[in-house]
Amino acid sequence: MGRTIVVVGSVNLDLVCTASRIPAPGETVWGTHFQTFHGGKGGNQAVAASRLGNDVSMIAKVGDDDFGATLREGLRAASVNIDDVTTAPGLASGVALISVDAQAQNSILVIPGANGELRPSDLERCLPRLQSAGILLAQLEIPMETVEALCTIACRAHVPLMLDPAPARALSREALRCVTYLTPNETETATLTGCGDSEVTPSSVQEAAEMLLEKGARNVILKLGARGVFVAGADGLRKAVPAVRVRAVDTTAAGDALNGGLASALMAGMGLEEAVRFAIAVAAVSVTRAGAQTSMPNAEEVAALLREQETPA
Ligand code: RIB
Repeated sequence: MGRTIVVVGSVNLDLVCTASRIPAPGETVWGTHFQTFHGGKGGNQAVAASRLGNDVSMIAKVGDDDFGATLREGLRAASVNIDDVTTAPGLASGVALISVDAQAQNSILVIPGANGELRPSDLERCLPRLQSAGILLAQLEIPMETVEALCTIACRAHVPLMLDPAPARALSREALRCVTYLTPNETETATLTGCGDSEVTPSSVQEAAEMLLEKGARNVILKLGARGVFVAGADGLRKAVPAVRVRAVDTTAAGDALNGGLASALMAGMGLEEAVRFAIAVAAVSVTRAGAQTSMPNAEEVAALLREQETPA
């Protein structure tokens, strides 16, 4: 098995407004700050894993605009291999409009732009890289046909696939059967299980995870925000792992930090429960900082938080 983490996914420029609260439909609210950050769920996961010291390659598409050039450069500067980050002629780069409130919660509106043109043919061109990866990471901000093609490639090449089913979209059983690690949040879990309710109550968390296992995912890592993670493993592991308490300033990309951290820990040979604990610490550091890719910690910062957790108060 190779040691490279290959991320197939989106890259966006995040336009972030901070305000005391997020406006309701039809409402105008005064904001306090505006900033731009490099984002996109794919790019964020790639940078998270790279900053933790992994060899990471990204397969993505940016527009032939200034944003595209700057997003590619941002990934390169974070030591992500961008040989397969191509430019879509005549298209704009992906953009996300993000509002962050005083409780560090966010709402995100994504315009996919060039991400919507990442096609199965783009994967065909990178087959050797995909087939020799240690693990593949994907999300749902690219066309579903591309995600499904990646599922098939992963299955055939016996390469573990971590799928973050975000933003929430339904997935076929065929695709789910190829997923080694499925990492939904509560909204995505509701969509995938067909329960329709956006809140997975504590009593139904295990039930939801069992349903996703039954649908074909080998391991389910259910992200519950401030309540931590519920992990259900192919080996029978069923465990609620608590979140780490930190002073959050921006929860944007916390889920991406978790996925990058989880991939990194699995590549380092950790078992699933230990890897989830590490990934939670990566996400915890990320929420103490503003922005998406800017918030991803290095290994020393994660180790420091884990040590702090072990030290009796
Ligand atoms: O998961 C956070 C990301 O979602 C942001 O960086 C934004 O670009 C959207 O893709």
